[in-house]
Amino acid sequence: RFPSFHARQTASPISEDVAEVPELDWENLGFGIIPTDYMYVMKCSQGSNFLNGELKQFGNIELSPSAGVLNYGQGLFEGLKAYRKEDGSILLFRPEENALRMRMGAERMCMQSPTVDQFVEAVKATVSANKRWVPPSGKGSLYIRPLLMGSGAVLGLAPAPEYTFIVYVSPVGNYFKEGLAPINLVIEHELHRATPGGTGGVKTIGNYAAVLKAQSAAKAKGYSDVLYLDCVHKKYLEEVSSCNIFVVKGNVISTPAIKGTILPGITRKSIIDVARSLGFQVEERLVAVDELLEADEVFCTGTAVVISPVGSVTYLGKRISYGDGVGVVSQQLYSVLTRLQMGLIEDKMNWTVSL
Ligand code: COI
Repeated sequence: RFPSFHARQTASPISEDVAEVPELDWENLGFGIIPTDYMYVMKCSQGSNFLNGELKQFGNIELSPSAGVLNYGQGLFEGLKAYRKEDGSILLFRPEENALRMRMGAERMCMQSPTVDQFVEAVKATVSANKRWVPPSGKGSLYIRPLLMGSGAVLGLAPAPEYTFIVYVSPVGNYFKEGLAPINLVIEHELHRATPGGTGGVKTIGNYAAVLKAQSAAKAKGYSDVLYLDCVHKKYLEEVSSCNIFVVKGNVISTPAIKGTILPGITRKSIIDVARSLGFQVEERLVAVDELLEADEVFCTGTAVVISPVGSVTYLGKRISYGDGVGVVSQQLYSVLTRLQMGLIEDKMNWTVSL
């Protein structure tokens, strides 16, 4: 199925060097790119199917200056993680969900996309080929980044004539420099991330470019990240630049409903199910910014972020604090989710996939 990888293995088996565990500071992995051994590449022309995916040495790719992705932003990405279990085996977390989300995004962006099976097989092949980069159990994870781009050349505005699907990986630790300590958010009320009818609900690359200005300004002022409000009423919580948001009040956990402007996070969806299974009442609805004043705890969820407790939210110069520690509910959810992902508790949901 992966001709060049098998050819490579037959012709020149992975050298002893490559089989060695990389010399990385596993205790202090942040969230930055660490080049690994292989990436997966698969292409297709507009109107046909993806075919002949193969593993290649990780490295630069060649694109026409007139590629659709470079000129008109026809691009999507995904993010998922592989964890090493205590017995050394490797688990993926809900890869079919990422495959389905990429297909949904591709439809919105007029792109061809791999099938769910192709996506999952590509992820498995890439992780297998880069096994040595999966951190030791409990020391982080292998972040998997599937990309889909309009790689064909266009000049007039139109869908690209060719699409390229790539999967690469990097070992990672905590996303925020705060680690698991609470982060400090600031609410943005001038710049918006998404508009009704736009692409906020799909994982297109442009959504992430659009938040860089507010994020840089927030970081320059010492905040960890930006929390966005809806652009119509400027009143309802939407999401943080890189993750979804939850508000806890007593036994009720509320999160903004998915309505086209919010990314349907897979960690978000998993936390909703985990919280319900633990007896919390979870509400997906409009969450007004004022509710932050009454909340006991606030936390963010995302693949990269996992669960990040929020220590404060600043809105129009007023700081609402939730304390320096991790809230009880955030801690409980974090613990159940991560133990599930690492194979430390029984996976009654059937979410993990063995490599
Ligand atoms: C993820 O959590 O996987 C994302 O895609 C967010 C990204 C900004 C790191």
